[in-house]
Amino acid sequence: MNTNIENKTWLGSAGSAAYDLRTAMLAAIGSCSLQDDVLQEDDSTNDLEAYCAALTGKESGLFVLSGTMGNQLGLRALLTQPPHAILCDYRSHIVTSEAGGIALLTSAMVNPVIPKNGLYLTLADVEENFKPEGRIIACPTRVISLENTLYGVITPLEEVRKIAAFARERGVKMHCDGARLWEAVAAGAGSLTDYVACFDTVTLCFSKGLGAPVGSILVGDSATLGIARHIRKAIGGGLRQPGLITAAARVAVDETFGKDPNGEGGLLKHSHATAKRIEAMWRRLGGTTRVPVDTNIVWLDLKAPSISMARFNEIGREEGLKLTGERLVAHYQIYQNAEDTLGRLQRVFDRAWAERGNAVSVDADAKASIY
Ligand SMILES: Cc1ncc(COP(=O)(O)O)c(C=O)c1O
Repeated sequence: MNTNIENKTWLGSAGSAAYDLRTAMLAAIGSCSLQDDVLQEDDSTNDLEAYCAALTGKESGLFVLSGTMGNQLGLRALLTQPPHAILCDYRSHIVTSEAGGIALLTSAMVNPVIPKNGLYLTLADVEENFKPEGRIIACPTRVISLENTLYGVITPLEEVRKIAAFARERGVKMHCDGARLWEAVAAGAGSLTDYVACFDTVTLCFSKGLGAPVGSILVGDSATLGIARHIRKAIGGGLRQPGLITAAARVAVDETFGKDPNGEGGLLKHSHATAKRIEAMWRRLGGTTRVPVDTNIVWLDLKAPSISMARFNEIGREEGLKLTGERLVAHYQIYQNAEDTLGRLQRVFDRAWAERGNAVSVDADAKASIY
C-alpha cells in the first residue's frame, strides 16, 4: 500500500499562512475521542459543548454543522405553533441567506424591519414593529432575533439589553445570530456573557473568524436545547463521530478567540486592524463605506468610483486577488503577510479609481450582493 502523502493527488497545496492553526488542530484531532454523539457519548464533543456553555454563561451547548443549522434549530425550538412571527432586521442572515429555512421548519411569519439608524435595530424600531398577542388580524411576535455583528457592525450592549427587557416583559423569546459575536467582544463592545445573557438562544460560529474547518454551537437552557437536539437528529444533523471536527473547533476557540500571543488584543483584533487599514486605503482615494468598520468587515461603496462589481472583481483577479464585490472580510491570517495582500488591494483600488466613471450602472450589482 502506498502511504506516501505526496502522491495523493486529491490533496491540495498546503499554502502558507501566518498563524496557521493546522498543526494544533491536527494534534487535537490525533487525540480526539471517536464516540457516538447521537447518544451523547463523545467526550470531545461533550467537552466542547460544556466549555462553550460555560464560556457564554448558559446551561447547555449543542454542536451543529453550520451557523444556518444553529439559527434554524434555535428558532424552531423557541417557537411553538402558528400563528407566530419573528421580528428581525431585514438584512438578517436568517431571512436573506438560509434558503427559506424559517418557512420550512417553523411556519413563522417573518417581520423584517429596516433600522431607522441604518445600522442596527433599536428598541424604538422594535416597539414600532412589535405585534402583541390578541389582535386578531395580526401575527403575534413570539421571537425577536438580532444578528450581532451584522454587516460587521456592532449592536451596542445597552441597546440589546433594552430590547431584551422589552421582550421579557411580554414573554417574547430572544434569539441571537451570533455567528460573528466573537468579533463584537474582541472589539471591546461587551463580554460574551453579558451579550449572551440577553438571549434565550445564541448561535456562535467556529468556522468564520475563528478559523475552524466546520461547525457552530447553539447555546441556551437545557430544556430548549433538548428540543433543538431532537430536531437536529430529525433533519439528519445527528453525528456519529464528530470528535474529529469538535476537537478542531475547540482549538479555534482557544487559539483565535481566547489567546493573545503578542499582547496586542488577540488574533481577532489583528483582523480588525487590517480592516481599518483597508478602510483607510479606500478613504484616501475619496471612497466611503456603506457602514462603519466596527470589526473585520469593510463594505466598500462602489458608487463613488462608479465601477461595476464585475469590473472590480476582474481587476482583483488581474492583481491576484479573488474578490466578490464590495464586501471585504479580513481574517487573522492576513496580518503577518498583510503587506503583500494589502499591496495588491491598493493596486486594485488605484485602478478602480483610475477607471472611475467608465462603468454603466453599479446599482444592479449592488442589489444582488446582500451577502
Ligand atoms: C451572520 C451570519 N449568520 C449565519 C451564517 C451562516 O453560517 P453557515 O454558512 O455556517 O451556515 C453566516 C455565514 O456567513 C453569517 O455571516
